[in-house]
Amino acid sequence: MKITVIGTGYVGLVSGVCYAELGNEVVCVDKDAHKIKVLENGGIPIYEPGLQQLVDRNVQQERLYFTTDLKRGIKDSEIVIIAVGTPPLPNGEADLRYIEFAAREIAALIENYTVIAIKSTVPVGTNNRIKQVMKEVTEVEFDIVSVPEFLREGSAVNDTFNPDRIIIGGESQNAIDRIVELHKPLNAPFVITELRSAEMIKYASNAFLATKISFINEIANICERLGADIREVSRGMGLDKRIGKDFLNAGIGYGGSCFPKDTKALIQLAGNADYDFKLLKSVVEVNQMQRMGVIRKLKYALGELKGKTIAIWGLAFKPGTDDVRESPAFEITNYLLKSGCMLRLYDPVAMGNFRSYVDHANIFWAENEWDAVASSDAVCLLTEWDIFKQIDLKVFAKQMEEPILIDGRNVFNVKQIKDAGVTYYPVGSSPIN
Ligand code: UGA
Repeated sequence: MKITVIGTGYVGLVSGVCYAELGNEVVCVDKDAHKIKVLENGGIPIYEPGLQQLVDRNVQQERLYFTTDLKRGIKDSEIVIIAVGTPPLPNGEADLRYIEFAAREIAALIENYTVIAIKSTVPVGTNNRIKQVMKEVTEVEFDIVSVPEFLREGSAVNDTFNPDRIIIGGESQNAIDRIVELHKPLNAPFVITELRSAEMIKYASNAFLATKISFINEIANICERLGADIREVSRGMGLDKRIGKDFLNAGIGYGGSCFPKDTKALIQLAGNADYDFKLLKSVVEVNQMQRMGVIRKLKYALGELKGKTIAIWGLAFKPGTDDVRESPAFEITNYLLKSGCMLRLYDPVAMGNFRSYVDHANIFWAENEWDAVASSDAVCLLTEWDIFKQIDLKVFAKQMEEPILIDGRNVFNVKQIKDAGVTYYPVGSSPIN
């Protein structure tokens, strides 16, 4: 099949490359000339494990192209996939400017019947609205299909090739059949629905996962106070198939470009329909509060924060990505800077991105994990990268006058900590010292 993908962010680029790998001819289009230049020069504009090799192979085999010229992309395409961003407006609602703009442009360029598949996360009712917008511009026949995406950053390639399900929302059987055919090689169950239900499945899934995280974070906070251990509690709960073990890791709260944005958008969407989504509002509030657990523990361990040097391990919102959007590290570092701390920051991949948002005379950008530790009064682990998990804690203990580790992701076990003699503050269980 000939396919055009509009938007080369995480969703658009990874999906486009994977469709090419399945044997389709794919043109990826983006307005951002810089991104396209990077791709044309053989690079990739994001950090995503496994993606570079796929891009190389598919470009070489002439199945994958990049351009800023939508007209060139759309020519002869059977399916046009929209995967542009829907960032939050100040009130939390999704900003549909980019998707509407893309839809108008597509409408002005299509010459034959085309299936328009929307992968961007959009509020319920948007696919219908896009249909109207396009109808105002063109008389050429087209169908709109909602194909929400469930890939995770950091494991995006694997998730795209091994999805749990493919959701297809649509009104035209012909268009649905085309999308089914495109995804058949993935061997995943199909859920065929109305447009509105497909749109809701995406929001409800992200909101549910965010709820699971805030729930376990609150249980962790209670465990800390009652002397239980959240890791054992999560394991014990997760073995119940009805609960499931995934997304039960307590920590410093969820971040990223999706959960924070989609939870707020769903609250707004419900509100616009006169429904007060109380549970989800609490999920968002708990998530915000959770980040401050690190600060509370630092104050407990160090007393006055002013004048202290704090090392931060990990700035990305999770491991496996250079994405720092809505990373808990922002609130934590800002709070510490305001409190008069000196910071030594290190992340194996996300330093550049983080630095483009935050810079301060009191920040030292460390060369590596050990450079960050040098001369610091305490270390806070905020992202569970493997290099931090593999740290030799005995060596760590020797680097510091009084080794204090605030672990926001529970990566070390009690034995390791006790053997090394580190003062340790995990999430959801008692401190060790
Ligand atoms: C999320 C969803 O998992 C994807 O299915 C969805 O496609 C994507 O959003 C999207 O809407 O585009 P992503 O944001 O890449 O994917 O990352 P996740 O792996 O879901 O992690 C989100 C956050 O939750 C991270 O900050 C992570 O540290 C946190 N988390 C996750 C926890 O705190 N505890 C857990 O047990 C799991």
